[in-house]
Amino acid sequence: MSLNIPTLHKIEELKAENKEVKTFKFFSVEIAKESEPGQFVMVWNPGVDEIPISIAHASPEGELEVAIADVGDCSHSLHQKHVGDLIGLRGPYGRAFSLHGETICMVAGGYGAAPLRFAAKRAKEFDEHVVFLEGARSNAELLYIEEFERKGCEVRIATEDGSGGYKGLVTDLLEGLLSSGEKFEQVLTCGPELMMKRVCEITRRERIPTQVSVERIVKCGCGACGSCDLGGYRVCKDGPVFDAEELEKTEFGKWKREKSGKRIPIKPNVTANKRVEPLSIPPSHFKPKYEPLLATEVCGIEFLNPIMNAAGFGVSGKLLYRYAVAGAGAVVTKSVGLDEREGYPNPTFFEIAPHSYTYVKEMGLSNPGIKKYGLEIADAKYAEVPLVLSFFGKSVEECREVAKIAIKYPIDMLEFNASCPHTEFAAVEHNPKLLKSIIKEIIGIAHPKGIPIAVKISPNVGDPVGLALTAEKAGADAITAINTVISRPIDPTLDIPILGNPTGYGGKSGKELAFGGKGVVFALYEELRVPVIAVGGIFSTDDVIEYVKNGASLIQVGSVLVSEGFEIFPRLKRELKEYLVVNGYRDIGEMVGAAHRR
Ligand SMILES: Cc1cc2nc3c(=O)[nH]c(=O)nc-3n(C[C@H](O)[C@H](O)[C@H](O)COP(=O)(O)OP(=O)(O)OC[C@H]3O[C@@H](n4cnc5c(N)ncnc54)[C@H](O)[C@@H]3O)c2cc1C
Ligand SMILES: Cc1cc2nc3c(=O)[nH]c(=O)nc-3n(C[C@H](O)[C@H](O)[C@H](O)COP(=O)(O)O)c2cc1C
Ligand code: FES
Repeated sequence: MSLNIPTLHKIEELKAENKEVKTFKFFSVEIAKESEPGQFVMVWNPGVDEIPISIAHASPEGELEVAIADVGDCSHSLHQKHVGDLIGLRGPYGRAFSLHGETICMVAGGYGAAPLRFAAKRAKEFDEHVVFLEGARSNAELLYIEEFERKGCEVRIATEDGSGGYKGLVTDLLEGLLSSGEKFEQVLTCGPELMMKRVCEITRRERIPTQVSVERIVKCGCGACGSCDLGGYRVCKDGPVFDAEELEKTEFGKWKREKSGKRIPIKPNVTANKRVEPLSIPPSHFKPKYEPLLATEVCGIEFLNPIMNAAGFGVSGKLLYRYAVAGAGAVVTKSVGLDEREGYPNPTFFEIAPHSYTYVKEMGLSNPGIKKYGLEIADAKYAEVPLVLSFFGKSVEECREVAKIAIKYPIDMLEFNASCPHTEFAAVEHNPKLLKSIIKEIIGIAHPKGIPIAVKISPNVGDPVGLALTAEKAGADAITAINTVISRPIDPTLDIPILGNPTGYGGKSGKELAFGGKGVVFALYEELRVPVIAVGGIFSTDDVIEYVKNGASLIQVGSVLVSEGFEIFPRLKRELKEYLVVNGYRDIGEMVGAAHRR
């Protein structure tokens, strides 16, 4: 992506297309020149929220248009803006449509016509024949019909009230066209999910390759947080455009997630007044291979390799499962609390400067609550790797309740997030007495079940090593270090914080953390008897080696997943094995703490 930080742009033009949708025109060479049909930008109304919006038009000269429907708080506030007002943009993000064939059918509902407008422009540049079908409740709600006609597309309309074109659903129109013998080499669709699901059913029957643009809750927009999960795919990075076959084993058309990550049916599924819990189609069972050089035992748990994801890089069990299949030696959940939390408004995550690989985030501990989290653990456990449940709480009582539920799940380890920078939870990291009481309490619950406890500490306290010693004395079995470093980025034009939470404070992650993190791990290894789990700015095998030699027994990777994705797990394993062999280590365990012996 070209611009990964919300950057102010003037609204150049505004046009009301119908009673719900307005087109916003901006000028941004940086974003427009990179944009492909199907991709989206994050649109920030400063002080309100930031929302994902598809690119409706982009030109190499820098014209950039989006169509925004007035459906809720942020979109409504954007509809109150005027030409000349400043709006933040970042992107483009996501996987685009891939156009092929000489005759393409595009099926749109509502503002779904926006990305298809851009796709039609591209298809016409390649001289393809485009049949464009659009459905709406009435003629007045149709979008961009004249644009499609001007581009030379063959336009067919369906309205539910019959005020324009075919009376009925656009999917019936599609079905009618196909049964009358029309042939398409490809179908692209964007609109309400149930409409797109029906399109897929029709085109599967006719064996027509189909691409679907899917929506889920987007927060980071670039593959870090996992809030946009769809069956283990991240809609913002692996999508929003998917091949219809990819969606077949997902919950597409059945259920989605709220901002907290809780599952909700797309069409309420109510049986005898009882809401049925939406379940995943289970992934296949996965058993990783034993790798003698990398295998290690920590806190009595066998890890096939020491590399795992960091907490917060994924809410869903299926995404954790994908990390395991990619090669993670263990997986760590998002921090889960007692109650459901939807988290803070966007922006919640962005890069602090172009190509810095350093990010700032404040998600607001969004999570579905420990009671609902069993569904995710069940999915993750289809991969046979240790599962670490990260959790948080602000008092002994709250942590006790979370731990009591957590230990009923098939988890291998608990990681207590004692490093939440939120004011309501910060009390824990700044109050060693409270930390001690919490650890003692959860140990009383977890140890009898054979579940060890790691405590994740903050680099933002005066004495992180002292805090870790407190945790160790209270009985912690391991220390995880470090969590994000406090920061508060502001927009230099508006002089207001960019992060959407009420204080504007957030935590820095990524490349810049490695330097300090390695120092903290070295100091912890000097002082502690329990193992150290390293996290913070790990991007390369050299980082892993340095952390391990400084004293880390296990490694967690976070922000690198944004730039490198799943490939980071096999790469680090491969390079680490080479290093161990070349340097004569019997196994990874022998290298732990090597920097202290010289
Ligand atoms: C990849 C993608 C492309 C999109 N393209 C367009 C577009 O071209 N035009 C357009 O009008 N809308 C588009 N949307 C939908 C748009 O993002 C939501 O309508 C918008 O976020 C609503 O925010 P709100 O504050 O106005 O409404 P809210 O009151 O917050 O919510 C209204 C609805 O929007 C959903 N929503 C809220 N916040 C988000 C979020 N951060 N991410 C995704 N959904 C959210 C909610 O689940 C709810 O169903 C797109 C969404 C995605 C994921
Ligand atoms: C998007 C995001 C979400 C995070 N969520 C959590 C969380 O829920 N619990 C937690 O202990 N740490 C969380 N963290 C902190 C990471 O686990 C990790 O400590 C930090 O990002 C430093 O590692 P990195 O530089 O490899 O990203 C989160 C970080 C990011 C960027
Ligand atoms: S919004 Fe997709 S991973 Fe964060």
